[in-house]
Amino acid sequence: MHTELLNAAESGAVEKAAEIIRNGGLVGMPTETVYGLAANALDSKAVAKIFAAKGRPQDNPLIVHISAFEQIRCLVKSVPEAAEKLAAAYWPGPMTMVLEKSDLIPEIVSAGLPTVGIRFPSHPVARALITAAGVPIAAPSANRSGLPSTTTAEHVMRDMDGRIDAVLDGGVCGVGVESTIITLASDPPRLLRPGGITLEQLRAVLGSVDVDRAVLNPLPKGAKPLSPGMKYKHYSPKANVIILDGSEQAYADYVNAHKGPGITALCYTGEEKLVGVPAICYGGETDYAAQARDLFEALRHLDDIGAQTVYARCPEPKGVGLAVYNRLMRAAGFEVLRLG
Ligand code: TXA
Ligand code: MG
Repeated sequence: MHTELLNAAESGAVEKAAEIIRNGGLVGMPTETVYGLAANALDSKAVAKIFAAKGRPQDNPLIVHISAFEQIRCLVKSVPEAAEKLAAAYWPGPMTMVLEKSDLIPEIVSAGLPTVGIRFPSHPVARALITAAGVPIAAPSANRSGLPSTTTAEHVMRDMDGRIDAVLDGGVCGVGVESTIITLASDPPRLLRPGGITLEQLRAVLGSVDVDRAVLNPLPKGAKPLSPGMKYKHYSPKANVIILDGSEQAYADYVNAHKGPGITALCYTGEEKLVGVPAICYGGETDYAAQARDLFEALRHLDDIGAQTVYARCPEPKGVGLAVYNRLMRAAGFEVLRLG
């Protein structure tokens, strides 16, 4: 299959992508978090193509994207007050709410669960595409299953060329990590995946919010997570990633004591001067937003330069940094060395 690269800034591009979606095809779609792999959420056959293109396990449900709040009403059983409040505060934006699904949502979208994740993205191109398509859009991150999510059209092309109909290039994604997922089907509401909207922001609106165990910890063998995606290996470059938890100095000392072929540092901007090995930087030490924005690009870059063992600085699990910590932990298979 030929994959067409469409520039969202050119006239007719969004309409062309919308037509592909209406006809049951797949389009790489920019959002403010990461690129999505978009199909008509109400068309089971089209959604099945998403799973095939990504190599995604069938038991991992998809998020459904809308372009106006009112569109949520026919997709879920009911809209609780908590959902109204969160939407008023953070939609459109990088937050997904899990609610009891309506019969309109095909089984394949929810992977057999009684719930569905709904997101109203803020990216103008995503909103224009959903509106032009005239249907809700199912979209997982537009990467091959297991690899880091994609934050540029070029990365989508690298993973998906020949597997999907088109990629709509809307530039680099600003948030850089996937949306925050909160389930309102639990009481109290529960954070399933940290992202651009922080835990602090959720609590400011809802009061009490639980944090699912899988956010910070590896799943015990055989456990069934509330969010099926949590059980899969994720965000992994080919290299073996090891997180070093300690001060900047302790980090640099450890890396410099373990120099060798294929050893690479994944560190904060400015720290490349401290380590005597090839280094890839992702944001400043306390600039959590820049860390989030640059993390997946950095993980992909590690493969490009042939990194074999990667010593990564341990992110601080604060604000958006919690999302960075969560993704990097998964990329490292939870392998952490505590320094001194
Ligand atoms: O920012 C994002 O959320 C991006 C963009 C494209 O919107 N999408 C995204 O989708 O990250 P995906 O499929 O890569 O990750 C969705 C996660 C998976 O871990 C899945 O298991 C979980 O959301 N999920 C989806 N529906 C769910 C549900 N009903 N209950 C619990 N978890 C759900
Ligand atoms: Mg994903």
